[in-house]
Amino acid sequence: MQEEIGLLQELERIGAEAQAGLDQVADAEALATWRQTYLGKKGALTAALRSLGRLPAEERPIVGQRANQLRETLEASLEARQAQLDQQALTAQLAASAIDVRLPGRPQSLGAMHITSQTLRRIYEIFGGLGFQVFPSREVEDDVTNFQMLNLPPDHPARDMWSTFYLTDPGLLLRTHTSPGQIHAMRHYHPEPLRVILPGKCYRFEQVTSRHEFMFYQVEGLAIARNITMADLKGVLLSFARQMFGPERRLRFRPSYFPFTEPSAEADMDCALCGGKGCRVCKGTGWLEILGCGMVHPQVLRNGGYDPEIYSGFAFGMGPERIAMLKHGIDDIRLFYSADLRFLQQFA
Ligand code: DAH
Repeated sequence: MQEEIGLLQELERIGAEAQAGLDQVADAEALATWRQTYLGKKGALTAALRSLGRLPAEERPIVGQRANQLRETLEASLEARQAQLDQQALTAQLAASAIDVRLPGRPQSLGAMHITSQTLRRIYEIFGGLGFQVFPSREVEDDVTNFQMLNLPPDHPARDMWSTFYLTDPGLLLRTHTSPGQIHAMRHYHPEPLRVILPGKCYRFEQVTSRHEFMFYQVEGLAIARNITMADLKGVLLSFARQMFGPERRLRFRPSYFPFTEPSAEADMDCALCGGKGCRVCKGTGWLEILGCGMVHPQVLRNGGYDPEIYSGFAFGMGPERIAMLKHGIDDIRLFYSADLRFLQQFA
């Protein structure tokens, strides 16, 4: 009887110790050790069962039954703990390999319109309002259209006004100005009247400086109809200058020379910065040169298909970078195409 009670107490002790130990088990290895300690062949429970033989036969079933219960309880606890540990391991693994959706995204820099494009659009808008259509024209020209049709035969000294990139294909070149577009536009529209602007890139084989680029834009203007006079030219250009630079602006026309216009002029605008008093920007003169212009030469009209006895026209050519420089106080044309974001972002 004494033995039986002692053995039952021993089983209780083993059970309590095992359950408490199981709570401390933190991984699979510790669990295997725990299993050996309490359920293994050399474990505590097996040892207790071995001493069953010392009990009288009638007491054995009670203790044996209790021992079997305990084994089942411990095995169930083991299984539950095992499941718990598996779940913990899975959770940890998922957490370690998870994509952290809270990470900030890679910043996508926003594009913006280039200052030249902005200026061109404003120019289109103003001339659109004056009835001028945009007429696109090619950048690779032939010598005939770029020069000869504009009264610049080979070896004409005025060709020195345009340092030229000639292509290896004989007779082809990168247009030095948008003026050859006049020929294309006239041949497209004749014998109807026309009012067009011809925007695009031009190329010059020149030393690049703060005032000269080897590639730049021009916007050419051309109007042809009956009875067009220089007053029309002046009116259109004054309207442009005032819409672009402010309603106070004044223009003056200085005689000049271009082989494709007669008479030819250079248009100056009064300096908006100093109001004409003279400053650093206008170099003390109070005036800023903004474009070349004139009345279309009779031979150029003929080359475009128009009869100069019936039709007359005016033409002009301006540099939109120069317009942008005057408008925004930019002092170096090289900034436009040097792809320097510090410059470009100021106009974004
Ligand atoms: N093509 C000239 C140049 O590049 C600019 C020019 C002057 C255009 C007078 C014209 C004009 O249409 O009439 O220097």
